[in-house]
Amino acid sequence: MDSVNGLSRITLVLHWLVAIPMIGMLALGLYMTNLELFDYYDLHKSLGILLGGVIVLRVIWRLRQGWLPPVANYAKSEMLLARYTHWTLIISTLLMPVSGMIMSGASGHGFDVFGLELVRENPDPTHPDKVIAFNEFWSGFGETLHEYAGYILILAIVLHILGALKHQFIYKDAILRRMLGQNTKLK
Ligand code: HEM
Ligand code: HEM
Repeated sequence: MDSVNGLSRITLVLHWLVAIPMIGMLALGLYMTNLELFDYYDLHKSLGILLGGVIVLRVIWRLRQGWLPPVANYAKSEMLLARYTHWTLIISTLLMPVSGMIMSGASGHGFDVFGLELVRENPDPTHPDKVIAFNEFWSGFGETLHEYAGYILILAIVLHILGALKHQFIYKDAILRRMLGQNTKLK
């Protein structure tokens, strides 16, 4: 169980198993889109869907366990800011794989997990190198959501990391140590 003195192994593993790959996926997404490196799209989709599975487990775990108990008494405004940021992180991590699948599925590009097809492509019979959207509305909706949820997520991660650094170097409390798996019980 998560407690003031230490976090459960499941909380620790799920936090870092989502946090580090998520930062990598944001970087890969921006890199391949801005430089139009279409060869990376299949890799991005496959990794994103697998990561989506871990994200779902993590959200279920967090909702069932409730939020982490604070290690000290902080100002109400800071507690609220941390809580809003955690909600933003949880919701937008979920929205990224979901919106990616809506966009790729509805646009007719399809997606697979390392060759295992989940939604097929819809090639244009008259232009075999192009695809026809199954549904223009959902394709555009997924694309917009994927882009903006990505920007919101980046902002939330920056705020989150600044918060962790503030706890570590200004408050000098045990928040970061606890998330790194150390027992914070005062000896
Ligand atoms: C390398 C950067 C990161 C550091 C140093 C870090 C650090 C922390 C710390 C210290 C906590 C505990 C806060 C508390 O005790 O109240 C925490 C919780 C949390 N972090 Fe991070 N984090 C990082 C990256 C991320 C990323 C990239 C995400 C999401 C994409 C994320 C999502 C969360 C969430 C949702 C919580 C709330 C508790 C939980 O659900 O486990 N973190 N993080
Ligand atoms: C799981 C975490 C994911 C993250 C963090 C992520 C992040 C990103 C980011 C930041 C971009 C650049 C957005 C832009 O500038 O327009 C992007 C593009 C893209 N992502 Fe993801 N993505 C994820 C999952 C997925 C999944 C599961 C799929 C599809 C199955 C997907 C399909 C795409 C596609 C097709 C693009 C290119 C869009 C374009 O060319 O306009 N992504 N992703």
